[in-house]
Amino acid sequence: MPDRPDPSAARAHEAYRAFEHAGWENAAARYEAAFAGATRPYVPLLLDAAGAAPGTALLDVACGTGVCAREAAARGAVAAGIDFSAAMIETARRLHRGIAFHVGDAEALPFADRSFDAVAINFGAHHFPDPAAALREARRVTRAGGRIAFTVWAKGVNEAFAIVFAAVRAHGAAAGNYPAPPGGDLVSEQDCLGLLARAGFAPECASARRVDAVWTLDRPQDLIDRFAAGTVRTARLLAAQTPERLAAIRTAAAAAVSRFRNGAAFDVPTAAILATGTVAGDER
Ligand SMILES: C[S@@+](CC[C@H](N)C(=O)[O-])C[C@H]1O[C@@H](n2cnc3c(N)ncnc32)[C@H](O)[C@@H]1O
Repeated sequence: MPDRPDPSAARAHEAYRAFEHAGWENAAARYEAAFAGATRPYVPLLLDAAGAAPGTALLDVACGTGVCAREAAARGAVAAGIDFSAAMIETARRLHRGIAFHVGDAEALPFADRSFDAVAINFGAHHFPDPAAALREARRVTRAGGRIAFTVWAKGVNEAFAIVFAAVRAHGAAAGNYPAPPGGDLVSEQDCLGLLARAGFAPECASARRVDAVWTLDRPQDLIDRFAAGTVRTARLLAAQTPERLAAIRTAAAAAVSRFRNGAAFDVPTAAILATGTVAGDER
């Protein structure tokens, strides 16, 4: 981890990390059923961006229940996963027996320099207190010529998230205080390119673009239930509501989701930023 001489910055880092860690430990048992359906559709694009192919040694950072590592292994990659939540890793190991999963922090990876061909981070970077430190670690463990790819949720163009926050604005109350990400917002192409630059990627080695997918839900009311069960910050916001407010939020969100009926299910549009950094030979 980099030196943090500023005590208030170090406190903010630790407070945010502790908040996230407790939240993911709590969500882990329900994550696969609740939220992996939102993140999984982006995995093929992420793996393409990372250059995952048969034989690629790929590390899935912030792997959660192993959504990305599993698909990399299905492509013939030699996949490994790491997450700071022991409960997530326990589930990942149970679901995917042939893959090596490790408990560890994205900002201090327990791997030797250049030990992977590629690193993939699916919807993890915005949860790190210091995303630039995590990307520097990802770069350190990737061989020259290898690629790091990550996704984050895009802001302003993401129906699933917009529906929830509109319903909370209309019917809910503010959630009170919880730590803000010390790394700032990570919701646009510019944010991601800035992060790659801070992590040491030259502009010609960095790219970011918007990508789109849908989150398929069985029932309109599933949207709020899945955010409540499978996330940290939004779950906290929903848990802070009175039963009456929460019922009104659920009704409003369900009405909005019902616009996206597709046969027997509901395909709610989501949007993300897919960012890639290539490790140049002379970067270190
Ligand atoms: C939204 S989930 C994404 C999980 C999985 N990558 C997926 O695509 O479904 C975010 C994950 O980041 C992990 N995480 C958050 N901060 C972390 C950190 N500092 N180091 C390692 N993992 C972290 C959480 O435990 C959680 O599993």
